[in-house]
Amino acid sequence: MKSHAVILVLGVLLSGHALASGNAGRGLELSKTCQACHGVDGNGVGDPQYPIIAGQYADYLEHAMRAYRSGERENAIMLGFAQALSDQDIKDLSAYFAAQKSKVGDLDPKNVK
Ligand code: HEC
Repeated sequence: MKSHAVILVLGVLLSGHALASGNAGRGLELSKTCQACHGVDGNGVGDPQYPIIAGQYADYLEHAMRAYRSGERENAIMLGFAQALSDQDIKDLSAYFAAQKSKVGDLDPKNVK
């Protein structure tokens, strides 16, 4: 009986995880809107006003986009972009940018090759 309960709990946890992760392929399509500022792969465009988001944790990216969308994190530029995104869009974009290799050796975007 006990082992059934454990299997049930594991099943719920695993399916929860699967639901939580986004589709990076779809994220790549959606990321076209982001490229002008964050670069093709999220490594920025060499301008320090646009953060590098490649290789950042998906959870962090998701949280940031939700915060822009709700206005909790205030930024006029990102508010507009985030408000156009559904929950699924945010998950897919986060999966895509998290999967990119960051070129950041240190945190100065001017040093990105
Ligand atoms: C016109 C330029 C521009 C475009 C296009 C743009 N962003 Fe941004 N983004 C910014 C700026 C500027 C910031 C920094 C805002 C701040 O100070 O909070 C930012 C911040 C972010 C952050 C937070 C990064 C961090 O380290 O906290 C994420 C995540 C993000 N953008 C994702 C996206 C995604 C995904 C798209 C496409 C749907 C996108 N952005 C499109 C300019 C842009």
